[in-house]
Amino acid sequence: MISRRKFIQAGVILATFPKQIVLAGRRLFRNNFQVPTLEMGRRVGKDVYFDLNIQSGQTAILPNKLTPTLGVNQSFLGVTLRANKGDRVHINVNNHIDETSTLHWHGMKLPAKADGGPHQPIYPNGSWLSEFDIIQDASTLWYHSHQLHKTAEQVYHGLAGLFILDDDKSKSLNLPIDYGIDDIPVIIQDRDFKQNGAFAYMTSMRDRMMGKRGKTVLVNGVINPVLKVKKSLVRFRILNGSNARTYHLSFDDHREFHIIGSDGGLLEQSHTTKRLRLAPAERVEILVDVSDGRMPILRHKSRHKQEQGRGMMGMMSGMMDDGKDMDILQIDASQATKSNRSIPANLVKHDNPKPSEVVKERKMVLEMKMGPMMMFGGNSFSINGKAMEIDRIDEVVKAGSTEIWTIENNSMMAHPFHIHDVQFKIISRNGGVRGHELGFKDVVYVRPNETVRVVMKFPEFSDAKIPYMYHCHILEHEDRGMMGQFTVV
Ligand code: C2O
Ligand code: CU
Ligand code: CU
Repeated sequence: MISRRKFIQAGVILATFPKQIVLAGRRLFRNNFQVPTLEMGRRVGKDVYFDLNIQSGQTAILPNKLTPTLGVNQSFLGVTLRANKGDRVHINVNNHIDETSTLHWHGMKLPAKADGGPHQPIYPNGSWLSEFDIIQDASTLWYHSHQLHKTAEQVYHGLAGLFILDDDKSKSLNLPIDYGIDDIPVIIQDRDFKQNGAFAYMTSMRDRMMGKRGKTVLVNGVINPVLKVKKSLVRFRILNGSNARTYHLSFDDHREFHIIGSDGGLLEQSHTTKRLRLAPAERVEILVDVSDGRMPILRHKSRHKQEQGRGMMGMMSGMMDDGKDMDILQIDASQATKSNRSIPANLVKHDNPKPSEVVKERKMVLEMKMGPMMMFGGNSFSINGKAMEIDRIDEVVKAGSTEIWTIENNSMMAHPFHIHDVQFKIISRNGGVRGHELGFKDVVYVRPNETVRVVMKFPEFSDAKIPYMYHCHILEHEDRGMMGQFTVV
């Protein structure tokens, strides 16, 4: 029995509490969360054989409509590959679509010929064998098409998946590690649709300039899914698989979570926070405690209002961030049972690249030129004044050496800068280095007029002919020339 007085009090509390706190206890999302199929390959000792098929299909994403999609071993997006440090993987990729494609293992330290960049095209009906040893620590990597000038469109239609690496150290930490149970992959992508259900790719001049952003967020190919968690401590491996959108993630009830990993693997220490920024191609691993049994929503809160300046800067920031807050996924913890996993404060020890061993410094200046050419898709994106040319090697790095790269953004929008074959540490940036940026990274977000310095030790692989790439990971910028090539010899 509830007294009248208590009833009124409850009403007052409901009315004065911020809306989202009340909503946190309610299930709002309907679509079921989808966990990408796990593919462990065929194992013979330390050799692991994967058979991948790039294929096209029709996928039910919208109600009562089918969307033509691309996928790897499934109709939309790729299966999750998983292997261990010390394995030798043999990945056979067959191309069953009618255009040339590639699969690049993003974040992997590997020989250039196994990298899957634009120099390893797979023609229609053709296949490609990529073989390499896994020499790096446990991490959440990913793979995606890297077809020259076509990367953005092919990834948008679905050519992307996760590549998870494990090692003994990470397994000994008592972190949640049961795939799909308490270790949950989250691929965040924004998309636009046409009336008939097809993806609407590239509709405006603004898309070409700022990169394609969509109004609908998908998680593993599903719009606003709800994840019924079975355990009270959940690990999310979040990939920003979007072409261009940077997300500012937080929970609607402002709960804290713990960042444990970055692009290149586990952090040295877990970092407790309420929000984080994730640029295209970045990954982060977080632990979320849902032992309160609630139903929090993970969302993207636009920085539009905070960051919008006056005049030209204001206009540009308006173009960069379309001001949309977006719900991403909901957790339903009402049936979660107590987890026997823990949130370790100390995780792993990093073997950091040593500043004393730096033998070479390089500078990368990112530029976008405004002008009529940009509207028609001309080469207005460049690094060090040059747009990508497949036959031009821009930099030559000595195998096994340590280098510092200074990345300077001379444009009016942020660019997530990515380097193949290495994991680097951020040494400095305006405003300091925090959270997942303290870990090993293969992508770094560089704000307008910002300069970021990174240090890295290149692996010993050497190939005088076949280059690796460095580029902006806004895929429309990459495709339009904001990319360069380096060999390691
Ligand atoms: Cu995620 Cu050059 O790639
Ligand atoms: Cu890459
Ligand atoms: Cu860019």
